[in-house]
Amino acid sequence: MERKGIVISEKKEGDPQEGAIQAAKIPSNGDTRNASSTGNARTTAQALAAKQREISVSEFFAKNRHLLGFDNPRKALLTTVKEAVDNALDACEEAGILPEVWVQIQPTGENRFRVDVQDNGPGIVKKQIPLIFGKLLYGSKFHRLRMSRGQQGIGISAAGMYGLLTTGKPVKIVSKIARTKPAHYYEIQIDTKRNVPEILNGRGEGEDIPPNDAGRQYMEKRGIAWIEVDHGTRVTIELEARYQRGRGSVDEYLELTALANPHVTIHYQDPEGQETTYPRLTEQLPPEPKEIKPHPYGVELGVLASMVRESGVKTLSQFLTDSFSRVSAGGARRICEAAKLSSRANPRRLGRQEVEALYQAIQQTRIPPPATDCVWPIGEELLLRALHQMVPAEFYAAATRPPAVYRGNPFIIEVGLAYGGAPPIQRISREAFEEIIAETDARTLRQFLASTFDGMGASAADKILQEAQLPRRIMPDNLNEDQRNRLYEAMRNVNLFEGQTMTVLRYANRVPLLFQAGACAITQTIMQTNWRTYGLQQTRGSLPTGPVTVMVHIASVWVPFTSESKEAIAAYPEIQKELRLALQAVGRKLGMYLRRRQRAQHEGQRRNLFLRYLGEVATAVSVITPVDREKLYEKLVSVAKRKTAEADVELDEHGRPVTPQELSAEDYGGGVLVVDPDGNLSFPGSDPAAEQAETSA
Ligand SMILES: Nc1ncnc2c1ncn2[C@@H]1O[C@H](COP(=O)(O)OP(=O)(O)O)[C@@H](O)[C@H]1O
Ligand SMILES: [Mg+2]
Repeated sequence: MERKGIVISEKKEGDPQEGAIQAAKIPSNGDTRNASSTGNARTTAQALAAKQREISVSEFFAKNRHLLGFDNPRKALLTTVKEAVDNALDACEEAGILPEVWVQIQPTGENRFRVDVQDNGPGIVKKQIPLIFGKLLYGSKFHRLRMSRGQQGIGISAAGMYGLLTTGKPVKIVSKIARTKPAHYYEIQIDTKRNVPEILNGRGEGEDIPPNDAGRQYMEKRGIAWIEVDHGTRVTIELEARYQRGRGSVDEYLELTALANPHVTIHYQDPEGQETTYPRLTEQLPPEPKEIKPHPYGVELGVLASMVRESGVKTLSQFLTDSFSRVSAGGARRICEAAKLSSRANPRRLGRQEVEALYQAIQQTRIPPPATDCVWPIGEELLLRALHQMVPAEFYAAATRPPAVYRGNPFIIEVGLAYGGAPPIQRISREAFEEIIAETDARTLRQFLASTFDGMGASAADKILQEAQLPRRIMPDNLNEDQRNRLYEAMRNVNLFEGQTMTVLRYANRVPLLFQAGACAITQTIMQTNWRTYGLQQTRGSLPTGPVTVMVHIASVWVPFTSESKEAIAAYPEIQKELRLALQAVGRKLGMYLRRRQRAQHEGQRRNLFLRYLGEVATAVSVITPVDREKLYEKLVSVAKRKTAEADVELDEHGRPVTPQELSAEDYGGGVLVVDPDGNLSFPGSDPAAEQAETSA
């Protein structure tokens, strides 16, 4: 229903019927193959030729906006915020600035919102502003291999174009590069036919705003919003959209962004005026990722051919060492020898077969793997801290894999896991519940539950409805107060652990991925992993169940998305392998924890049972024979303790006894955080007191 609203207005040209009419109108042109063979004239090469022309990228994406994440009004809002925030964070980090971002969404009419995103980044120089915001495929990140959130140069201008198409309003930009320099203000719209920017204000030149007081007055008078920072950028886009909380919402995206970017502060004002701040957890910027050249193994034949053709150097040897990473002079010589080419040959003179020989030689020559100091993970410690902040649980584990390579591109996989604690649905406040249920567009209650809450499977939803004694198919809007009360109570009280499925949080270069989970290599690999080995329940080939949240991050100089909307990771075998290893690493830690917890519970139960009977035995014996009941009882207890402990002793692979208490950070291999029922944290093994507290839990 939402989708239709967007696609309708797009049928303008290229209607096949029109083509048929035109073709029929062109008489005796000598080519009647079509007409004679099928019996009715359809079209001719000439008629087609009249219609063949270039397609501008912006026209293409205006028609195919779903490719960019604008397939429905709800997603359009998210994508717009996401593109602007991703850019803000990229710009700050590249400039070495601790990012602070302000996001504001205001309703401006029915189905209309104004999105404002401001950052404290380096700002944008005047002449670049129109091109960045008014031209698709224009950016600083496409022609390089460097870890960043954006890569295609299509994000923010596409959001601006969507705003223009749906509301007719231009994109507004304020940008400032230093405290003492003027700020620049632009109102821009993209000319989709030509893919060029049109500047609407300041007689087509934009406006300069002087620094300090004069500037403040100017902005106030003109109604230009700006938060006082020395440098930064503010983008304002008005668009047709829908705001809704829950899964896939702006709120979720910002929360998840804060989770994976502990160095960022985000201020968020939602359409209802509610303000939320996610303060940074660390003052430390992530290390600056290096830009690298492509690795020879990752270059395809066609790309190699065009690189050779366009190369500006004189010798093949120089071409190889200059254009690629990890090719030394010696390496270049070996490649040339294997290709039977002179290392002094002029690269531009190489023929097709020679390029192919070169390509084959590259594959056969041993070249060191790419340098990997160009990708930075979040790191186990920050992952644990961030997950703990976000998901209240009892056990956390994290694993960061060493760098690996797909198609010549270095990447790192890391995984964080949280186990236990109340699922999100049971932490929801009454007010938030009322809001969500008022806003939902779900048709049935069951659908409402399953689509709003992470980790809520169909069976859990049914359980809640049963407990609340509500029919499954009732519309959420039709609930009366009493029914809403029952639903809320049931949501909070039903034991959902069994019916709950694993919550998966996917990230690429620290950006949360909220859609297309099923098409993503991350989800697929999780489903292929056998979680039963680690103590979770799982039907083969699906997500495991239980109170578990798994966060997976891929960091790479080039993230292989399955489409331009950057929502799912392509399934390269190298990536799947690393995913598997990282998931297994945290899985093993979870397994250890669960087994140990189970053993502790089991042992405790047995001892309690003994103690109960020993008391009675001591009393009975003291009645028939003159013994001190207390002394006898103590003796019996000490024997029982020794025996139950002995029975519990397990042997390690060397036949040495291991006791549960000896499970330490070393057994876990580090990267573990345990929370006791009182909320005390411990990193097992690192501190004896914490260890004690934890074992008694
Ligand atoms: N907030 C900002 N601050 C500084 N530079 C920006 C900002 N937003 C965008 N840019 C610049 O504009 C370019 C285009 O942005 P975008 O269209 O989102 O493409 P991408 O992020 O994929 O490169 C970026 O590469 C960056 O150089
Ligand atoms: Mg971008």
